[in-house]
Amino acid sequence: MKKSRIGILTGGGDCAGINPAIKWVVKTALDDRLQRERGIQYEILGIRDGWMGLINLEPASLEVHGHSIIPLNQEIVRTWDRYGGTMLGTSRTNPYNPKDDQSKAVLANIEKLGLESVIVIGGDDTLGVAYKLTQEGVNVIGIPKTIDKDLPETDYTLGFETALNVITEEVDRLRTTAGSHKRIFVVETMGREAGWLALEGGESSGAFIILIPEYDFSIKKVNKLILEGRRGGARYDIVVVAEGAKPVGGSKFTRDIEVDSFGHITFGGIGEFLAKEIRKSTKIESRCIVLSHLQRGGAPCAYDRRMGRYFGIAAVDLVARKDFGKMVSYKNGKITTVPLKDVIGRPNLVNIETQYDIERYNGRRTILST
Ligand code: F6P
Repeated sequence: MKKSRIGILTGGGDCAGINPAIKWVVKTALDDRLQRERGIQYEILGIRDGWMGLINLEPASLEVHGHSIIPLNQEIVRTWDRYGGTMLGTSRTNPYNPKDDQSKAVLANIEKLGLESVIVIGGDDTLGVAYKLTQEGVNVIGIPKTIDKDLPETDYTLGFETALNVITEEVDRLRTTAGSHKRIFVVETMGREAGWLALEGGESSGAFIILIPEYDFSIKKVNKLILEGRRGGARYDIVVVAEGAKPVGGSKFTRDIEVDSFGHITFGGIGEFLAKEIRKSTKIESRCIVLSHLQRGGAPCAYDRRMGRYFGIAAVDLVARKDFGKMVSYKNGKITTVPLKDVIGRPNLVNIETQYDIERYNGRRTILST
């Protein structure tokens, strides 16, 4: 039977849902019946630490790369769908970093490892590299993952629902203590430039105020809403704020000034700032909780396990069809595929017109369009 070697790697921020996708790539590609039907026998090499694994490899034979390459089989991945993070490891390495271009090493190592195709699980940055590699003749398939849900052309990115569950659970915990002390809790979520985590996390947890990067907020109005709520009988308040949100006329809060190899700065600090501002004006005790990497951690929820499974299976379908340069996607209730070129550099952001209530600073209260 014809043989073909697939490489698989995970890049960018880890999240829940990646391991289920890897498991189902492996199980589907190595499935005996499918191999017979397809007349092709696949072999799968797990590449460690994202693009870094393909840069640092010094191949002579597979055995030599014990550290950067893991040959995967069904037994190895059997339990992986239960675990968060990525068993392959990840990095925010950009082989096309203009200050240190390592793309030639990646291309040479793909060739040396004899990879006929590479399945790449990532967000905008990682899939951006994948797309550039397709232009250099590499057979790539993308699987979308990011808790930020900011990739276009797909209604779902792995990790998002698990992160929402974390936000919801943590807000539930905060409610009892907030209520006991009549406090305001400002909960800062991740999401970079996209407000999905804050918006849908705030909706799921029933937050009183939700602030997102797509709409600059007025601090005065936040205070007014809180005081109105208190007059209406509220004992405590939950304000969910996205790390990328900012007040009108202000600038985004960042943790440090260094940018990563994709040019991103790390956001953070808006929650603390807001809690102080609210306390100053309303005189109500306000505390800030930064959920940070808790949102990326923990076991995948049922939805991420299922979506990881479907995306993994679809990725192997594409490899079998030799339909490369595509990303698997979930659109309008169906698993489908989109060209990688349509995904890159077009962040999917919250639509203020249809998805956000700029009066209440919250999710919309009318949903059906007339
Ligand atoms: O893109 C995922 C994400 O979790 C963002 O929401 C967040 O801004 C960023 O990664 C944090 O990155 P790091 O783990 O490198 O601090």
